[in-house]
Amino acid sequence: MITHTILLAGGKGTRMLSKKAKVLQTLAGKTFLEHILLSADAISDKVSIVVGFDKHAVEKKAATILKKAKIYEQKDQIGTADAVKTVIEFVDENEKVLILYGDVPLIRKNTLKKLFSLNDSLSILTANVSNPTGYGRVLKDSNGLVQEIIEEKDTNDEQKNIKEIFTGVMAVNGKILRELIPLINNNNASKEYYLTDLIGIANGNGFKIETLSVSWEETLGANTRSEQEKLEQTYRKMKNEELLKNGITLIDKNRVDVRGDLQAGVDCTIDVNVIFEGKVELGNNVSIGANTIISNTKIGDNSEILPFSHIDSSQIGKDCFIGPYARLREGSEIADGARIGNFVETKKTKIGQSTKANHFTYLGDTEIGNDVNIGAGTITCNYDGKNKNKTEIGDGSFIGTNSSLVAPVSIGKNAYVGAGSTITKDVPDSSLGISRSKQKNVKDWSKNKK
Ligand code: UD1
Ligand code: CA
Repeated sequence: MITHTILLAGGKGTRMLSKKAKVLQTLAGKTFLEHILLSADAISDKVSIVVGFDKHAVEKKAATILKKAKIYEQKDQIGTADAVKTVIEFVDENEKVLILYGDVPLIRKNTLKKLFSLNDSLSILTANVSNPTGYGRVLKDSNGLVQEIIEEKDTNDEQKNIKEIFTGVMAVNGKILRELIPLINNNNASKEYYLTDLIGIANGNGFKIETLSVSWEETLGANTRSEQEKLEQTYRKMKNEELLKNGITLIDKNRVDVRGDLQAGVDCTIDVNVIFEGKVELGNNVSIGANTIISNTKIGDNSEILPFSHIDSSQIGKDCFIGPYARLREGSEIADGARIGNFVETKKTKIGQSTKANHFTYLGDTEIGNDVNIGAGTITCNYDGKNKNKTEIGDGSFIGTNSSLVAPVSIGKNAYVGAGSTITKDVPDSSLGISRSKQKNVKDWSKNKK
């Protein structure tokens, strides 16, 4: 059976006070749209997105996330049932349809899978919450069978006390959806076409409705900036509880942000105010110092990232020391046992085993062998105003302090560069390259000055 996900993303999200569509608001550095599409992707053969407000921006963003998603425009935002209606002629009778709301981004893939497996006609995802204000309430009869969903504005005092709410997620058979959507009217307090009326109508037509209840965290929506901040908190908590469960030490679970995927081996420790972005992999016994940002990077066993470091799209081997205050930019490959110290910036640079660059250095477009010592203040002059040029430094070499290596240039194996040199020509293996003016001492200079 084909699974077809319909994502309703037409609304403006007025209370966000934003010029953007609500699905383009962010959570953990990614748009709501991205969170939802990535959860839906794995279980959907077809994906349809209903857009309205800020439609071009939503369409553009959706294309970058999920190529297979098709866009449908809802002219006026007159209700969630009307939004589904814009897609209905593209829903086949033999499809299983999953309907998602664009402002509920924390729904898990496994939850969606479970909902699908409940029954073949109609299943809804619900949650029991202490404060149900604002949500549709799930009405059940004395046998616990679902009767209908009543929207907040249409509830009476007794119904207001119902704690089981509709999360905005349902799985429905394509045939039933096609038959029942046209029967929904707008005779309600908001004069809107409520998708939630489908439940009462289905019940009246003899279809059994199953419910799956999930924790309230997963169903949180964001209508205001304050709710968006709560989402961030909740997301952080969910992610960090997962890390703790997987055996990672967090010094403070409220002060680590995983904005992407973090994989870690055993005995890893993460200090406070650390942000992980994209895909980050830590080996065993890795420690990450405070106030560090790591994006799309792999770090080997026993390596230590010291505080205030910034690492992006790089690879770090085993037993390395990085930082404090190191900046590894894209394409930095640091081999086992190497050390990168404070105020060292690397970009598209390979650093060999046990090589050290401990202080104040820029290494760009550079290939450095094993056991090299890069003195403080060494700069690879990789840019000539037009092109980026390469620097090579062979195994066992020693680059003296405050040297400029003007690329393209190659320093051989076991070679030396004298401190303060500006190196513009290759230095052969085992040679000393030195270029600085000779020192002259003027005898009794200070005495004679007086
Ligand atoms: C909806 C449900 C409510 C549920 C809650 C869960 C209805 C009538 N009510 O209420 O039972 O408890 O979600 O969060 O469905 N949208 C469109 N076109 C429209 C209207 C809405 O695309 O004409 C989209 C919105 O962009 C949003 C989603 O549908 O992504 C839900 O709409 P929203 O107005 O936020 O519904 P709620 O009032 O939160
Ligand atoms: Ca909402």
